[in-house]
Amino acid sequence: MTKQTVFSFSLVLIFLFHCTKTIAQTPDILKILDKPGEFTVFIRLLKSTGMSDQINGEVQKSTSGYTVFAPNDKAFSDLRSGTINSLTDLQKVQLIQFHILATGVTLSNFQTLSNPVPTQAGGIGKGEFPLNVTSSGKQVQLATGVVKATLGKTLYSDDNLIVYQVDKVLLPLDIFSGYEPTVSAPAESPPVATKVNESGAESLILNGMWLYIGMAVNIAAFSL
Ligand SMILES: *[C@@H]1O[C@H](CO)[C@@H](O)[C@H](O)[C@H]1NC(C)=O
Ligand SMILES: *[C@@H]1O[C@H](CO)[C@@H](O)[C@H](O)[C@H]1NC(C)=O
Repeated sequence: MTKQTVFSFSLVLIFLFHCTKTIAQTPDILKILDKPGEFTVFIRLLKSTGMSDQINGEVQKSTSGYTVFAPNDKAFSDLRSGTINSLTDLQKVQLIQFHILATGVTLSNFQTLSNPVPTQAGGIGKGEFPLNVTSSGKQVQLATGVVKATLGKTLYSDDNLIVYQVDKVLLPLDIFSGYEPTVSAPAESPPVATKVNESGAESLILNGMWLYIGMAVNIAAFSL
């Protein structure tokens, strides 16, 4: 090998090294969430609200980092049906923004936050978008005034972006102040259903009887 080829070869190596480094330094929130396969609803909302592009853009520019709380599909299916669909486009954006902090908060830093913690959704006053963080031992809880969520595993962490799993959708007071998270116990439903079916069957038999009586009366009337 001549000196020149060695030189250009090292240039290529340096170039390749830079490429991989740049790629590794720009995390994509959608790719991070797509990998575990249990964040399909959150991913859909991130895309439809345009927040995924915004997060990916902001994360690159940010010097203080970003924290994202990602509710899994189970968290969304625990909501009353229609909860998300009934939101306006603006409320959907606010809901997603409520899951984002404009600072990178590592696990050990949660106890240093002072409540209420400002989210990307804005206002932290009464009836707005306050998020309270409490940590005891290893457990970190997030309270919105509507729900209390527990922080789960760390899905991704670097200097620019930290993504945690949460077991509940963080419902902000501003949108969900009258929300009742638990649907009344379905314990009494089966007997009710049985009753309905029985009475249904009864009325069917009764109708049949009246039909026969009617026919009989008609026939009787005719033969008279
Ligand atoms: C959040 O923390 C603030 C300040 O400690 C408190 O006034 C408020 O009641 C808390 N709200 C919830 C929902 O925990
Ligand atoms: C009641 O009837 C419906 C259909 O009419 C059926 O799907 C359901 O299983 C029935 N329930 C019971 C308890 O028999």
